[in-house]
Amino acid sequence: MNYENILVTTQENIATVTINRPTKLNALNVATISDLNKAFKLLSKNNEIRAIILTGSGEKAFVAGADISEFANFSIEQGSQLAAEGQEKLFDFIENLKTPVIAAVNGFALGGGLELAMACHFRVASANAKMGLPEVSLGVIPGYGGTQRLPQLVGKGRAMEMIMTAGMVSADEAHRIGLVNHVVPENELIEFCTNIANKIIKNSPYAIGKAIKAVNANFKEGKNGYETEIKSFGKCFGTEDFKEGTTAFLEKRKAVFTGK
Ligand code: COA
Repeated sequence: MNYENILVTTQENIATVTINRPTKLNALNVATISDLNKAFKLLSKNNEIRAIILTGSGEKAFVAGADISEFANFSIEQGSQLAAEGQEKLFDFIENLKTPVIAAVNGFALGGGLELAMACHFRVASANAKMGLPEVSLGVIPGYGGTQRLPQLVGKGRAMEMIMTAGMVSADEAHRIGLVNHVVPENELIEFCTNIANKIIKNSPYAIGKAIKAVNANFKEGKNGYETEIKSFGKCFGTEDFKEGTTAFLEKRKAVFTGK
């Protein structure tokens, strides 16, 4: 499938999705969000794909935010709709995917860009990356989940400061506060993420999907994460993956999982 604003490549069981508007620092316009939605939907339905890396093209930016030129003249209703549609189509969608998504933050991740990275299951940054939520400097607040996911990752006080100052943090600072898991040299970023993805894809895709669901349940209103964990744990016992994983262990061989 061809997309206007993104590139999708696959190598064995790992897909890489690259946001490809480098002249606009990969700013997220509505068309790009739609491309990403289509691509993530297709990839998540493909049983061969067991991990996804999301990154930006060029050397400067992961994503420098939502495309400001698109919403500068919006009304109250249009603003609400922009946030609601974006969250449904992309940010919540990625967070709730069964397939693990790693954000390879290769430069500026600002506003919607940082929100996109935070919707991924975890983040790795290149040493030149800079992250922030500058929305209040434009007279709005983060609208793609930033006010919720940033405090989850770095704590309320740090999130409040980042949001209120509209400032940027360096990759090292992001690492120190738990916003990214690793910082690596720019030219090693994709290889580093691929190495992590290679470890992930050795494990049961079914169990990984359920683990994502259980971890996410802790952050969902009205959900009891412990109950979700119990249910998901139980379901694993009815799967081929569980049979294969335990049998392979007892037979002292490597498990070959199907995700069923
Ligand atoms: N929306 C739309 N266009 C954007 C954009 C955004 N969020 N971020 C960057 N661009 C565009 C610029 O308008 C410019 O386009 P042009 O060449 O047609 O004028 C191009 O990308 C390059 O950006 P530029 O500002 O010239 O690069 P820089 O190196 O001087 O600055 C940033 C880099 C990231 C500091 C700066 O682009 C910036 O502050 N961007 C907006 C960040 C933001 O507020 N994001 C939150 C949005 S909710």
